[in-house]
Amino acid sequence: MQNAVRVSKNVYWVGAIDWNVRNFHGYQTRRGTTYNAYLILGEKVGLIDAVKAPFKEEMLARIRSVIDPQRIDIIVSNHAEMDHTGCLPDIIRETNPQAIYASAMGAKVLHEIYSLDREIIPVKDEDTISLGNFNLTFLEARMLHWPDSMFTYLEEENILFSQDAFGMHYASSERFDSSIPQDILEYEAATYYANILLPYSPLVAKLLQKVGSLGLTIKAIAPDHGPIWRKNHQWIIEKYKNWAEQKPRAKAVIVYGSMWHNTEKMARSIAEGLSSEGIEVKFMCMDCCHRSDIMYELLDAAAVVIGSSTLNNNILPQMADIMTYMKGLKPKNLKGFAFGSYGWSGEAADHIHGTMKDMGIEMISEPLKVKNAPTDDVLKACYERGQALAQSIHAALG
Ligand code: FEO
Repeated sequence: MQNAVRVSKNVYWVGAIDWNVRNFHGYQTRRGTTYNAYLILGEKVGLIDAVKAPFKEEMLARIRSVIDPQRIDIIVSNHAEMDHTGCLPDIIRETNPQAIYASAMGAKVLHEIYSLDREIIPVKDEDTISLGNFNLTFLEARMLHWPDSMFTYLEEENILFSQDAFGMHYASSERFDSSIPQDILEYEAATYYANILLPYSPLVAKLLQKVGSLGLTIKAIAPDHGPIWRKNHQWIIEKYKNWAEQKPRAKAVIVYGSMWHNTEKMARSIAEGLSSEGIEVKFMCMDCCHRSDIMYELLDAAAVVIGSSTLNNNILPQMADIMTYMKGLKPKNLKGFAFGSYGWSGEAADHIHGTMKDMGIEMISEPLKVKNAPTDDVLKACYERGQALAQSIHAALG
């Protein structure tokens, strides 16, 4: 028995809970996720978004707990990615709605993915459609998280359906933020932002400005993943403003991979040097940390220091993993340097230095390299390089 959950007078959550998913494009979803869909019971019945294909029956069961799915008149697809549209072709076939709406890009992408034989009506920024007694206004949310993304605002109940934005990967039997501990909300929302939305931060800032300028009354934000914000909606908007700026604080993240603990010894001395100057250090060995956790830590860091042993004239594979992932997510406002030990050729630290430069990280020095085991003098140099970075962070933060 799977029931809908009432969100407001005429809106119900009819999504699905994916307790077991642990990977979303390389982002480790340790707490699973939800795929949220919403039913609006107006004079016309509207369905906002759908769920991943294997969860179709769960969504239909929740809809049936309120109305016959055949009564759905209108479907709005805020985001074409398959976690929200996987079951859409079946739902369209089975419910035969009067109209299906998406952004112009969404309409195009849905046809490209599913070869639909139904028209998807493209809507533009600030277009409004009527459900009889209710109005839905669409807001373009380009790249949050795909080019097709849009928000839908239900004027009469002041709900902003925000698809991926303001979401988190968090499976729970609770549907609302007020029932979830604040530390979990903050951690999971920040991890989601750092691993999904970070590269689009300038567009996040622009969209938040636009939403603010429209003067919408917002009583709830209903995203497509995780809890519905009914209590902390203003808090999460403020958090997004901060994360979009990626404002650094006195914190450095050391990320490294080490074959025989020599690069690790260097990392430890660098960490001591940073700490001695009052910088908070996150010490992250790629053999025991996940790339998603590193992105979470970088969200408010001022510096990143990256090291690798040299393996076959290159960096270690676990370092290639994080370098590729980090480069794609384009973290900003970071300083740092590269380091590493080697046996004979020593290319790793140079490779990392080059990639960090390409990422726009302000490099405070050339790479710190050591042949085989670091001597006390080398470890002293590592400590002092940590101190130099700390001083550079303090100077920048003022
Ligand atoms: Fe939740 Fe971009 O899909």
